[in-house]
Parts: sequence; structure tokens; C-alpha cells
Amino acid sequence: MSKTIAVIPGDGIGPEIMTATLRVLDALDCGLTYDTVEAGMIALEKHGDLLPKPTLDAIAKHQVALKGPLTTPVGGGFTSINVTLRRHFDLYANVRPAISFPGTKARYDNIDIITVRENTEGAYLSEGQTLSEDGELATSMIRVTRKGCARIVRYAFDMAVKKGRKKVTAVHKANIIKTASGLFLNVAREIAKDYPQIEFNEMIVDNACMQLVMRPEQFDVIVTTNLFGDILSDLCAGLVGGLGLAPGDNIGEHAAIFEAVHGSAPDIAGKGIANPCALLLAAADMLDHLGMVEKGTKLRDAIRDTMANDREHVTPDLGGKGSTQTFGEAIAKRVKV
Ligand code: NAI
Ligand code: MG
Repeated sequence: MSKTIAVIPGDGIGPEIMTATLRVLDALDCGLTYDTVEAGMIALEKHGDLLPKPTLDAIAKHQVALKGPLTTPVGGGFTSINVTLRRHFDLYANVRPAISFPGTKARYDNIDIITVRENTEGAYLSEGQTLSEDGELATSMIRVTRKGCARIVRYAFDMAVKKGRKKVTAVHKANIIKTASGLFLNVAREIAKDYPQIEFNEMIVDNACMQLVMRPEQFDVIVTTNLFGDILSDLCAGLVGGLGLAPGDNIGEHAAIFEAVHGSAPDIAGKGIANPCALLLAAADMLDHLGMVEKGTKLRDAIRDTMANDREHVTPDLGGKGSTQTFGEAIAKRVKV
């Protein structure tokens, strides 16, 4: 198979972890060609634009992008590039797997949870946010649509079927936020009936937080609205040892962007010690998305094997003495066999 993807190396540690990731993808021999385009500070400096049109065109054309972290300059009124990309391509599903890997400082070693977060509506609207002139009254709005709820719930169930998952938990606060969260819950209950082979349960968000910390093994796929998904997916990342191993997939009807959840890490940029695993795991999810599920699994297995058996080559954040390059090479060596 030959497929071209858009590649955005990004800012800070972005180019370092992207180089390591592409080297591993090449070793996997998945027939990908890369259309490398720019966004973020690099693009601003070169072209005067954080998100140049050729970059948007490349994502639209190839429909799949692998993206490094982007720095949004503070001040100057710039909107977050990531938010802009999600809106522009209507990337409504934010899929965040949290998987236990060996050799981390995580509290659990048996976690395999995918959070499916609605990415376009809910409490994350710019409209409806007001602050009175005297600063005494602030409002914000939660807005969900039946269509928005239905497509995220359906995405979660379809994904569960495709990945052989057993259970979907809808997380909500319908007891208090009766209209917006209630609509989401009702839609989830209706759609669950179309998937009798998948166990469905529902959980109120505060209880879900406690249950995740106490007994995370009871969760499989979580589907929820924007704000709860933002919080729960970080909680899940914490359960497996933090953001260094957390991929984030942004999926829409016409495009999908795969990235690490962490940022551009300016404090370690240029030192060659950034952990490439979050971006590599995003690349594994991208391979699944492209129908190369065996390659995706092989990549995750190689990461697991390296972390368990090649401690010398892993990066310092995981307690190793290696570099981005040695870690990437150790993984590349393992995907070849
Ligand atoms: P950050 O995630 O870049 O860094 C937080 C801490 O984690 C730092 O100590 C950093 O060294 C460490 N870290 C992050 N990734 C690592 C890796 N792969 N290996 C080893 N250590 C790692 O978060 P921060 O500092 O809040 O943000 C820095 C910049 O990144 C900001 O400009 C922010 O806007 C941007 N950002 C971009 C995101 C994206 O493009 N998806 C997401 C989050 C932040
Ligand atoms: Mg977040």
C-alpha cells in the first residue's frame, strides 16, 4: 500500500521526536510517503502565519496528518493553533488511549482505557462567555446538540466493535446539568441499543473520577462530553505514568490528525532527551486508522519490549540514560524482526 500523509514536525522538541518517529515508521515498512509542511512558531517566523494555507491544503488533500507539538505565542491575541485545526476540519472525536507500559513510575500496571471525548461543543464554546463591566458577574454556556452527541457516541461504539472492546461507559452529570448532560445521556442510551454485543453502562462524572482511581480495571471505553473528557483523559494519562506516553487522536469525517498530548517542552528542546513514545503511539493509532492494524500492534509491542528490556536506551524521563535517538533506534530495531 502506498499512502501519503501530511507531516507537521512542530516546535520545540517536535522535530526531534518526529525524526525518531519517522525513522521507526520507515523501519516498519508501511509504505508511507511524507508531505512535510509547517505550522507553529517556525511557520510564523518563515511565512508570517502560524497556520499557512499550504499546510491546511496538505491536511485536506491527504486527510491524515501526523503532528508534533505547536507553540502558540502568549500575548498578541493568537488563537490556539490546535483549537483552530479542530474547528477547521471539524475533528469531533478526541480519542485518548491510556495503556500501561513497563518501566514507568505509574501506580498501576494493568490499564487499557480509551477515552472518547467530544471535541467541538459542550462547555468549550467561545460564545456565551461574558463578564460584567464591574467584574461581579460571569457567565459561560454549555451547548450540545443531538447530532453532536449522537456522532460521538456512535464513534465510541463503532470503535469498540472494530477494536474488539467489551464495554462502553457514558460519563455524564445529568442529575444536575439536566438539559445538556441529560440530552447526551438519553442519546447514549438510545444508541447503545444498536450495539447489543457491547456492554453499556453509565456513570456520573464525580463517581467516575473516584472509580478510575480506585478500580481503573473496570473501564474499557469511556465516552463523554468535551469538558469531562478533557479532565478524565488527563486523569487516565496520570494512571499510566503521565503525558510522556499519551497519544491524542483528533478524528473527523474528512480528516484526522494524530499527535502527542504533551506540548513543545521548551525546557528540554534541542537537548536530544525528549521521549518520542507519545508521538510513536499516535503513529500506531494512525496506522490502525489507515487499516494497518497489524503494523500498529507491532509498533506498540516494540515500544513495550524496549521499555521492559532495554532500559539503557530509554530516555531520562523514564529513568534511562538514553536519548531520543537511541530510544527511537532501539524501537526501530525491534519492529524490523
Ligand atoms: P509541555 O507538555 O510542553 O511540558 C510539560 C513538562 O513535561 C516539561 O517539563 C517538559 O520537559 C516535559 N515533557 C513534555 N513532553 C515530554 C517528552 N516527550 N519527553 C520528556 N519530557 C517531556 O507543556 P507546557 O510547558 O505547558 O507547554 C509548552 C508549550 O507547548 C506551550 O507553548 C503550549 O502552548 C504548547 N502545547 C502544545 C500542545 C500541542 O501542540 N498539542 C499541547 C500542550 C501544550
Ligand atoms: Mg487538556
